[in-house]
Order: sequence, then structure tokens, then C-alpha cells
Amino acid sequence: MPTSTSLSERLESIGQSKLAAYINGVQGDGGDILKQQIQSFDLDQLDGYISTYGTGYQPDSPNEEINPAPYFALDDASWDRAMYSTHGEGLIAANKVACFTVAGGQGSRLGYDGPKGCYPTSCVSGKSLFEMFAQTIYANERKYNASIPWYIMTSPLNHEQTIKFFEDHNHFGLDPKNIQFFEQGVMPSFDAQTGDLLLSDPAHLATNPDGHGGAYKALHVSGALDNMLERGIEHLCYFQVDNPNAKIIDPVFIGLHAYSPESSGEFSSKMVAKSSWDEKVGVFCRVGEDISVVEYSDLPEELAKMTNERDQLMFNAGSIAIHIISTAFIQKIATDPEYALPFHRAVKKVSHFDPATGLMVQPDEPNAIKLERFVFDAIALADRSIILETDRIEEFAPVKNATGTDSIVTSKQIQSQRAANWLAASGVDIPTNPDGSVNATIELSPLTALSPEDLKSAQLPESIEPGASIQL
Ligand code: UTP
Repeated sequence: MPTSTSLSERLESIGQSKLAAYINGVQGDGGDILKQQIQSFDLDQLDGYISTYGTGYQPDSPNEEINPAPYFALDDASWDRAMYSTHGEGLIAANKVACFTVAGGQGSRLGYDGPKGCYPTSCVSGKSLFEMFAQTIYANERKYNASIPWYIMTSPLNHEQTIKFFEDHNHFGLDPKNIQFFEQGVMPSFDAQTGDLLLSDPAHLATNPDGHGGAYKALHVSGALDNMLERGIEHLCYFQVDNPNAKIIDPVFIGLHAYSPESSGEFSSKMVAKSSWDEKVGVFCRVGEDISVVEYSDLPEELAKMTNERDQLMFNAGSIAIHIISTAFIQKIATDPEYALPFHRAVKKVSHFDPATGLMVQPDEPNAIKLERFVFDAIALADRSIILETDRIEEFAPVKNATGTDSIVTSKQIQSQRAANWLAASGVDIPTNPDGSVNATIELSPLTALSPEDLKSAQLPESIEPGASIQL
């Protein structure tokens, strides 16, 4: 451990005088913990980030032309879906595919007291998101007679709770050796005006998880990437913890990603057509030469509103954060400094301990900068990245907010609607509301069906009563 003096001199040298003075005075265990935590960051690099994203921040003013990104459309019959499905199934059966859930977020909008993956989400039985994914993995392993390891990224804030949840539920019947949890990194938060690093309490810096884009580094430093390579995993199916409808193992998508001549097999994405020009989702665009996700707030309104001759939005490729990333590409992003991803800054309210007064400060206004990396920033670094359109009901039922849009209520409606559509395709009579939506709550377990085709051989009711609540 360096002496307090040498550490405080280092802090002084990067302009962190307040913290330097505090470090000099603080004694005992708390002081040691804090010093160790400060030492765990590369202070010169941190200083650079603070001036780039804080005190000296200059918003990017990209002058490259923005065009819609090309994608494999749902109604496009010119590519051979069946052939790519067969290719994808081959990779799954050869144990070349794994699942990857990012579950390190703070879920602040949902306001649930616990890791978001533990949130009761299925329509009728209230299964957690983790259980729904676990059953989907189990059903795919059974279907393809394959082993599909599952990598779950947590953060230091929810790691222990997440592991305990899996242990308490006997890993939902999956082999624990095939589930690997690892923590993402954190970034210190700093004062938006002064760049001073903030303390969350007398013994700790205030930090936040470093974004889903922290996954590349975390996969590498945790040993999860090595574990994948040892197992011969080539492709990682990436999804967020809050989308219960994500088709987490999709043979067509896997086949297209790995075998399409238009894909370099490094990073592929799914999209849904935007529901309106101002829907708050990132949009796949071609910016200059590169494919990128442009955040909704960064897409100029006149572009967002542009329509084509069929009256469809030109910039309609909404990102649903479902990707496939090759392990080789992850290794490149994680280890080659030339491929380092940028940070994005968010100005947030961060309560903190003031070393000068010894009191906690509860800000009324956003006061601090949090830095995060985004997983999709790697798309621009791939040689050829493809995008596949999927149906919104089929694959997008996010639980982001406590109420309103993208809440548990809307998620359950979409889950139920998907189940109704699958059952209707097998001839079950579905009760509907005047607007055509399903008038029942239907939970379809992944153990019963992974796709509408799986229902063809299942024992199904002839019809469902209006207003019924059923599980199949
Ligand atoms: P969101 O952007 O929805 O953030 O994350 P969040 O933290 O879950 O929720 P809010 O914004 O605080 O309400 C999208 C996905 O990325 C993961 C989340 O767990 C979720 O699956 N994520 C986000 C991480 O794994 N780490 C992060 O640092 C941020």
C-alpha cells in the first residue's frame, strides 16, 4: 500500500486536491479501503476522462452523412431463411453457441428492490426473468441435444444477490457448471462543474457500473472469455435482462450472422420497425461508411420523420439490443487498445459525502457525471455487420419502467399477445377485444414451445374463454 503522502501527491498532480487533503487526514480501516479503491483505477487515464467528458467537455458534432442502414427485412423473400436456419442449427448442435445476458444495470426506472433479473415477469405464474431465460436455454439444449453455456454479467452492486437467487432456485434445473457469473467494472462519478471525484461515504468513492459496453473488458478480465474459448464457443447470443420475449437462441439469426456473405461474422443485430418517428429507441444508421446505432435524442427530427414512397419511416430500424458477437471479435475489442470504445456521459443526481464538512449532500439537481460504454459502439469496428428485422410482438416486451410504456403491464400484454398468436396459428380460437388484441392472459412456457411450430404436436384447448387467465 502506498503511503498517504505519496497517494495524495498523485491526486494533487491530477488536480484532485480535495480528495488529496482528505486522504492525508483519514485514518484506520476506512482510509485503507479508500486508498485501495483509488489505486485500483489508472489515475492518469481517469484524469483524461474527467477533462474529456467533464470539465473540458465538447459535444461531438458529427458532420458525416447519416443514411438508413440496410437490413434483412421480414417480408424479403430474396434470401434463404431455411438454409440459414439449418446452418444455425448446425452451430448450436456443435456446441459453438452460448448465451450472454447483461444484468449489471441499476434498474433505477423500474425501482425494484433487487437485481432486475429476479423481477416476477411472466404473465400468470410470475416467473422471474432469469427463470424464463433458464427454461428457454434448457428447452433449446433439449431440442438440439446441445450444451449451451450461459454467461451472466452482474455489477458489484448486485453480484452476490444474483448468485444467491440462482442458488436458492437450484439454478432452475440447469447445470451450474454451465452458468458463469462475472462482475462488470465500475467508473468513478465526478462533480460536473469541478471534476472532483465524489465519495459515496467516508470510505468509498462514488462509482457506477461502466455500462453494458463494459462487457468486453469484463468478459476478458474475469476469465469468462477464456472459458468460452476453451469450450470452443464461437458465437455469443447477447440479450438484455429485461426483455422476456427475446428469442435468445435463434437459428436463422445465428446462421445469417455466421454464414451470410454480407456478414463478417463479428457483430450482428436485430431490429424492429419503429412504432412512431419519436419512439425512444436507438436507430441503426449508416454514418459515413460505418453502421452505428444513433440514439433517439441524436437523430435530427427531420430525418426521424422522413418517409419513403410506401409511407414508411426511412429511419425505422429500431434497436432492441439483441446481438450476436463472435468470441474472436470480443477478444479484439477487449485487448487491442486501437479498438477501445468511447465513453458516453450522463449528468445525474449523485448524493455524496463532503469531506470538507463531514456531511452527506443530497443534490436537488443533477450534479455529477457518470460514464458508461455502450456495447453497440463496437459495430463500427466490425468489418461487415448485418441487421435482421424481427417482429415486435415476437421479440420485444421490455420491462424498463414502473408504469406506462415499457412497464410490466405492457410487457405482459405483449407476452400474452405472442402466446395468442402462436396458439391461433395452431387453430385455437382466441377471444379478442374490439381492437383485435387478445382478451385473455396467456402464459406459454418455453418448455411447452419455443416457436409456433412446436405447438403443432402439443395438446391444446380448442378455444380460450374471454378474460381467462391460463398457463400452458
Ligand atoms: P438500461 O439502459 O435499461 O439500464 O440497461 P438499467 O440500469 O437496467 O436501468 P435504468 O436505466 O437504471 O432504469 C439495459 C441493459 O443493460 C444492462 C442492464 O442490466 C440491462 O440488461 N446494463 C446496463 C448492464 O449490464 N450494465 C450497465 O452498466 C448498464
